[in-house]
Formats: sequence, C-alpha cells, structure tokens
Amino acid sequence: EQINKGNYEHYMQKEIHEQPESLTTTMRGRLLRGGSSKAKSVLLGGIKDHLKTIRRSRRIVFIGCGTSYNAALAARPILEELTGIPVTMEIASDLLDRQGPIYREDTTVFVSQSGETADTLQALEYALENGALCVGITNTVGSAIARNTHCGVHINAGCEIGVASTKAYTSQIVVMAMLALAIGSDTISSQARREAIIDGLFDLPSKVREVLKLDQELKDLANLLIAEQSLLVFGRGYNYATALEGALKVKEVSLMHSEGILAGEMKHGPLALVDETLPIVVVATRDACFSKQQSVIQQLHARKGRLIVMCTKGDAASVCVGGACRVIEVPRVEDCLQPVINIVPLQLLAYHLTVLRGYNVDQPRNLAKSVTTQ
Ligand code: G6P
Repeated sequence: EQINKGNYEHYMQKEIHEQPESLTTTMRGRLLRGGSSKAKSVLLGGIKDHLKTIRRSRRIVFIGCGTSYNAALAARPILEELTGIPVTMEIASDLLDRQGPIYREDTTVFVSQSGETADTLQALEYALENGALCVGITNTVGSAIARNTHCGVHINAGCEIGVASTKAYTSQIVVMAMLALAIGSDTISSQARREAIIDGLFDLPSKVREVLKLDQELKDLANLLIAEQSLLVFGRGYNYATALEGALKVKEVSLMHSEGILAGEMKHGPLALVDETLPIVVVATRDACFSKQQSVIQQLHARKGRLIVMCTKGDAASVCVGGACRVIEVPRVEDCLQPVINIVPLQLLAYHLTVLRGYNVDQPRNLAKSVTTQ
C-alpha cells in the first residue's frame, strides 16, 4: 500500500501530502486524553523503564545527520524547557572527528530515519563504549540503531522512499516533543503547559491538512524563483531548524544553492548578501521571538531585501511594515509544534522548484537515501 505512488507523480509529493496520516500513526496509542480526574499524558512504551535514569542524567546529547539532526534541533528547546536538563547537539561525523566527551551520566539520543546511517551508528558504538545511556529514535524496526541502543521510540511514519526526507522529519519532531513530555511528566509546575502541548498534538494532523492547501500558492512561488541562483532562509528559536531544513530541502532536490541562517546572526555576515535581487524567506510566525523577527524584517527592508515572509494567519499586515513582501500565511499551533507546520510550505516549494527546473525529485544526483559508508 505504501510502496506505490498512488495518485501522485512522485514519492516526495506523496510523502509530503500524507503527513496528516503519518503524524496520526506516530501518535497512535501514545497520547492519553485523561479522564475526569486524570491528567492528559504521554506513554512511550519503549522508554518507560528508563525514564528515571534519563531524568537523573546530567546532559541529553542529540546525535544525527542531515534531516534527522535538524529534527532534533527543532525539538531541543522543548526538551530543555520541560526537562530542565542541558541539551547539546552533535552531528555524528563531527562528534567522531573530535572524539568529543561523552560520559556515563549522559543520555545520548540517536535520531535516524533509516537506523542504518554509518556515522550515526559509529557514534552509537562510541557512546556505548563511554558508558552513556543510548536511546534510539528511528523509523525502521530491526535496524542497527534500533537493535543496538538500550531503549527507544519508533516514529512509525511508514516507509519513506523519496531521498529527501519529509514525513520522517515531522514525525521525528513529534516523537521528540512526546519524549520531552514523558521526561518532564513528574514536574507539577509545568502540567498546564504539557496539557496544552498534548492538545496541540491532537490537533496537529488537521492543521497540517490545512497548510497543505497552500500547494498551488507554493507552486506559483516556485515559478517566480525558478531561475534564481540562491535562496536564503532565516529563522530563530523553535524555527532555526525550519530555516536549516527548508534550505536543505531546496538544495538537495532542486539543486539551487540555499542556506539556512540563524536570524540572530544576521548582522555577523549574512546582511552583506542582501540586495534587491536575492530572494530571502523569513520565518516569522508568532512565538516569543516574534518581535525580534519583525525587527529583522525591517532591517532587511531597509536594505531593499526581496522578502518572502512566513507568518501566522492574519499577521500579513504586521509583518510587512516598511516594504513590499510576499507572504505565506500558516495556521498557528502551540509554539514548540510550529516547526511541524512551518516546514510544510518549504517542502512544497522545494518539490515544485525541482519539478519546474526539470530535475529528478525522488533521486537527486549524487545522493543516497541511506548513507551506509563513511
Ligand atoms: C541521507 C538522506 C537524508 C537523511 C540523512 C540521515 O543524507 O538523504 O534524507 O536525512 O541521510 O539519514 P537517517 O536515515 O540517519 O535519518
């Protein structure tokens, strides 16, 4: 059922559009609505026996490559907020190159769609040797990472065929948000926040369905950008990962140079690139960083930047003060889940750009779905 393209022309297109269903499957049986007296909660069977050890760890270290790394980056703020444990990020090859310190008191979390990526697997061996607790988050039951970690969570996103990861990314973020909820579940003071996130998770598939309706709008935008050399994507906070992952999607399939930029770093270099020709996507949906993003937009306007602003529905007028810009309006969800919504228009943009530019969308040149050699 999952291995054919159904009514779609490409696997990537199918996988983008099936995200409401894949997210539902990821959450199935894991969110407990709570009864009259019971609180809403999360149950992750694969890690429940290790929660005490995780809560006692002095650090959580996320380790992955490519899109899986970006998904972990998207989940990092909510992990920090709900667990109070410092969370650090490691690209697997870089951890190995540095032989970075990993301790017995660490919880290492290996994020990998395939569960077979050579660098991630080798980093797992390294963490095991150093005595850390190793948690796997994969999409592949029986994969090397699933087998060799102490415990883990399957993302259950269904088979992903397109080399560019799409539905696995959003399911990974949801699993890591659920991980944060599970680890933090013993803290009374954040109960209301956790319940709001659980409500947000229940609503997420329908919000993704809503954002998928922007398909034609993104195709029109792709048509405008078809001949560009480069595209920048600015994000921060929860959506720093959206900037990196959006740019990765664009470059890996449409073969257009694209760079994700942490908006807080704008003045430390990227601003020099801004002129009236270079297209820039700015992610400026509502959250605690919104006013900072508004000021970034104003500064880009002041340099005559060619802006495409992604904002919360109804915010078009407040984000485009001071200059002309094109707007992508998306539905609002709980701040830590917003990256799941915000990546979808960028996946659609990358997809349409690729098809319009005439490249192979499911099998980009030089790339492999799973990189099993170093
Ligand atoms: C390759 C794929 C990417 C993927 C990365 C990590 O580069 O093309 O889509 O994000 O590997 O793969 P993993 O299976 O470990 O998530």
